Amino acid sequence: MPRNAWYIGAPTTRLDKAPVPIVIHGLPVVLFRDADGHARALHDRCSHRGVALSLGTIADGMMACAYHGWRFDGEGRCRHIPSLRDDQRIRNTQIRSYPCVEQDGYIWLWTGDDEPGDRPLAIEKFDRFQWLQGAIELACEAILPIENNLDICHAAFTHPELHPQWFRAQAVGLVPTRYELDMSATNLTVRGPETLLSFDLPDRVTVGGGEGFRLILHHVPTIPGRCIQHWLLRREPVTEAEPPFWSTEEPEILAQDRLVLESAQRTYDAEGDAFERSVEADATTLAARRLLAAATRDPASATQMKRSVLVRS
Ligand code: FES
Ligand SMILES: [Fe+2]
Repeated sequence: MPRNAWYIGAPTTRLDKAPVPIVIHGLPVVLFRDADGHARALHDRCSHRGVALSLGTIADGMMACAYHGWRFDGEGRCRHIPSLRDDQRIRNTQIRSYPCVEQDGYIWLWTGDDEPGDRPLAIEKFDRFQWLQGAIELACEAILPIENNLDICHAAFTHPELHPQWFRAQAVGLVPTRYELDMSATNLTVRGPETLLSFDLPDRVTVGGGEGFRLILHHVPTIPGRCIQHWLLRREPVTEAEPPFWSTEEPEILAQDRLVLESAQRTYDAEGDAFERSVEADATTLAARRLLAAATRDPASATQMKRSVLVRS
């Protein structure tokens, strides 16, 4: 996954009175609100003896370490060491801070080494719609659920009793279906007769669109072999009821994907990926791989592509 990009740290609602520890791209980070209510992100390690700052408290809008009470402001500057006499100065105690933006219901972080891009990509119509929001942790690399959510031929098998494609397959079987792929340097859109999927770098998959159903998924790498899937589901505009198949714990349909993805990850861990075989229906997931590979290694190598595939789905 590309490092120089905005990723979700946490939903804004999680950032209340207590500091929030997260891990992103292998980096321990603590999120908190400063005295002005702005979200802040610091490396979650005290420069005194290495204790996680997230074990501490927020004092005067600063992170106060749980061990000896050193306080760090939102820029990572140590502002107060309780044990110092008045005639002693604070020196060499800076810790790393990360650019942090609050937008569309999330706190977004930039942990890359390049200068941050101006803002995270906006979530279309976020303010106009109502949303359900949640997250689940997956024991697999972030690319697996990204591919899975763009995979046009899995729902009839992975999602019994839940996915429209499964119900249709039960009723009439799989039928030849044409899907149009449209790839730019930062986006892949897949359109079928009843399908609209979109992938935006680095990690956003949108299912549905327009005024109808919309599920937005982000996939944040944490430690190697794990990721967090943040989901955002548009509430039913008419009833405002939660969709019956959805819960805020672990939505069952995501649990069904988890089962196959974590299984696949165990295989990749044990065997690498040389065993993989692909068919034409994998065009969508392979396109997402290409997009991510270009963004991670060499953004200038990104190419545009349009093609259509005809598969039984
Ligand atoms: S370890 Fe943080 S103040 Fe000592
Ligand atoms: Fe799925």
